[in-house]
Amino acid sequence: MTEKSIPIEKFDVNTIRKDFPILQREVNGHPLVYLDNAATSQTPQQVIDTIVDYYQGYNANIHRGVHTLSQEATDAYEAARQKIQKHFNIAHPYEVIFTSGTTDGINLVANGFTSFLKEGNDILVSAMEHHSNIVPWQMLCERTGATLKVIPMNLDGELVMEEYHNLLSDKTKLVFCNHVSNALGTINPIEEIIQAAHKVGAAVLVDGAQAAAHIKADLQALDVDFYTVSAHKMCGPTGVGMLYGKEEWLKKLPPYQGGGEMIAEVTFEKTTYADLPHKFEAGTPNICGGIAFGAALDYMNNIGFDAIAQYEDELVEYATEQLLTIDGLKIYGTAAHKTSVISFNIDGIHPYDIGTIVDKLGIAVRTGHHCAQPIMDFYKIPGTVRASFSFYNTKEEVDKLVGAVKRARNMLL
Ligand code: ALA
Repeated sequence: MTEKSIPIEKFDVNTIRKDFPILQREVNGHPLVYLDNAATSQTPQQVIDTIVDYYQGYNANIHRGVHTLSQEATDAYEAARQKIQKHFNIAHPYEVIFTSGTTDGINLVANGFTSFLKEGNDILVSAMEHHSNIVPWQMLCERTGATLKVIPMNLDGELVMEEYHNLLSDKTKLVFCNHVSNALGTINPIEEIIQAAHKVGAAVLVDGAQAAAHIKADLQALDVDFYTVSAHKMCGPTGVGMLYGKEEWLKKLPPYQGGGEMIAEVTFEKTTYADLPHKFEAGTPNICGGIAFGAALDYMNNIGFDAIAQYEDELVEYATEQLLTIDGLKIYGTAAHKTSVISFNIDGIHPYDIGTIVDKLGIAVRTGHHCAQPIMDFYKIPGTVRASFSFYNTKEEVDKLVGAVKRARNMLL
């Protein structure tokens, strides 16, 4: 817990909710119940103020001008980088690469490994990945001739770790896994995954997109090679995220994109690249987004991740119990370690129909395959209804969801 964080016993969801203007609105004549936090979280006033302050006070391009506005914007942007560094316990600020989001970070790494892989190399990916942590590796395999192998999962939505250890060999060069599954909520045993991969000399990229709002990852302790997140999943704006890479890897990988900012010197004969992190930050970045990402981290750390995790765990436990009282409702993803996501279906009803009816009652959930089609294929279902929770949701909202799902069931069966 950070020094300034709110002790768990003082965590007051009603006070917290006042920070989120959107939670005061109505949808279809009902107070909004926002349970699509795994898709994107809502934005507190403190972060909105940061965005407004930037555009009202010091909007300028960074690292380029000697004028005051440019200096102020550069200082705020680099201060945000340091907040990210501190939050994830990263050794150096230059190991924090600003990206447009998790997908961008993954593609940067996948692109960078093109010249390091060849036929006969294996890439391992977990069975419960988001498409963004499958497709870039398939494209990498097409470019290099490497083979993509899948770490299987069981019906509870847990990785079969025995199989993972069997798949590892000296042919394995890269391992990819999400920290938390966006479709099932499973918290994967990334410590074990990283340690075992390193024993065979493989590098590990962890997709932290779904974990970051719930778990404060210590990246040095994890000894992970790459970790990538999106700000918009953790109270920040869309279009900005960070890729952490160990210095040794970031130095080895070639730049992802060419352009301004990432160069040391350019002539028509040859270009030399800038030092880290700028080598990977071509073009004018999302300056305001980066600064607001820092403000979002301040906001969440002020509440404290211990308090957030405890509150969310209680909420998800309550929601699970209540949803299971509905006849024919089945939850997908019953891992021993899970967080903040409940994916479910009701026998005989398409998830889309449930999502549409609960929306009429002001409740936002996601329906479909959640960009994780292999998981749906594994369960032989077209998709699920997914309720995903944040620290600003309440038990009363869970009750509204359960009431609305019961109503949908009665209407549709
Ligand atoms: N990856 C996001 C989700 O799970 C969009 O909804």
